Amino acid sequence: ASDDSKTKTVISAEGIGKSFGDRTIIKDFTLRIQRGDRIGIVGPNGAGKTTLVNLLTGGSEPDSGSIRLGVNLEMATLDQHRESLDPRTTLAEALTGGRGDHVMVAGKPKHVVGYMEDFLFSREQMRTPLEVLSGGERGRLMLARALAKPSNLLVLDEPTNDLDLDTLDVLEDMLGDYEGTVILISHDRDFLDRVVTSVIVPEGNGKWQEYAGGYSDMLVQRGADLKREHAAAAAAAADEKKAAKPAAAPSGTPKRKLSFNEKHALETLPKTIAKLQGEIAKQQKLLDDPALYAKDRKTFDAASLALATAQAELTAAEDRWLELEMLREEIEGG
Ligand SMILES: Nc1ncnc2c1ncn2[C@@H]1O[C@H](COP(=O)(O)OP(=O)(O)OP(=O)(O)O)[C@@H](O)[C@H]1O
Ligand SMILES: [Mg+2]
Repeated sequence: ASDDSKTKTVISAEGIGKSFGDRTIIKDFTLRIQRGDRIGIVGPNGAGKTTLVNLLTGGSEPDSGSIRLGVNLEMATLDQHRESLDPRTTLAEALTGGRGDHVMVAGKPKHVVGYMEDFLFSREQMRTPLEVLSGGERGRLMLARALAKPSNLLVLDEPTNDLDLDTLDVLEDMLGDYEGTVILISHDRDFLDRVVTSVIVPEGNGKWQEYAGGYSDMLVQRGADLKREHAAAAAAAADEKKAAKPAAAPSGTPKRKLSFNEKHALETLPKTIAKLQGEIAKQQKLLDDPALYAKDRKTFDAASLALATAQAELTAAEDRWLELEMLREEIEGG
């Protein structure tokens, strides 16, 4: 079966490591990605998610270890920093590359109007120049472009950040139909739960760990793992005590408690996150009016600024929540 399994392996990373200066981002990480896997990567800002994906996809070299990419790998990427396009390009041109009226989707030509409609654009927007698109529409377009490229490996670096709920549904459907392998960096826990088959998370000091299932499964397994570690540590401690003097075994006390502030933040962050999401939707709605820029530049600028601010705050709040949630799991066990 070795031949067969070889052709199924899309990416094989063996003990890879990467540091920047004296900061170890990745240490001794081994991973095998098989054809059709949907890998989610989650973690706080600056943890090294983009770095990890660059290594895995051959964009940069690890300091140690090795990466093998499968043959005939055709990769389509949605970059975290988004590609820049000529603002005067029209929506249709951006999708077809200016070549005719068709987009290749899963190897078959599809009319650009139909494809635009799949991504919730109207046919009237065909000739809309990119410069008047709202942030949300821009995100949708970038996604449509990435998915229009022929590929068998799709790499999406935080595609969900500036997408509204309807677009997330579109993305979920598209990923469901996609036949290749997917690597998805995202902070969106619900989205990860719905689309990925395993989740990779940083666990400190350059250690990265893969867990089967979605985000929630990861939390449960992480909790169970840590519980087992605590139990083992407690048992070892008990053994030591017994050897010294026959006293009662101490119970496995976790190493620390959540502080009042942390507990409070864990309780209130979901509300903050919902509020920010509401704010983002509100500003996005304003910006969804393609005439706003020409009509009312002041409102357009204010809304753009408010949108960017809310998005940054949302990312920060989600990161903080994730961090605290992991800490809570670690302390309380699954
Ligand atoms: N080429 C580089 N040279 C030096 N430091 C780098 C380089 N690339 C990334 N870093 C640093 O490595 C760390 C990880 O960066 P990376 O972009 O991989 O994080 P990330 O998890 O993708 O973060 P974010 O959620 O903000 O996208 C950061 O502290 C970053 O500043
Ligand atoms: Mg990144």
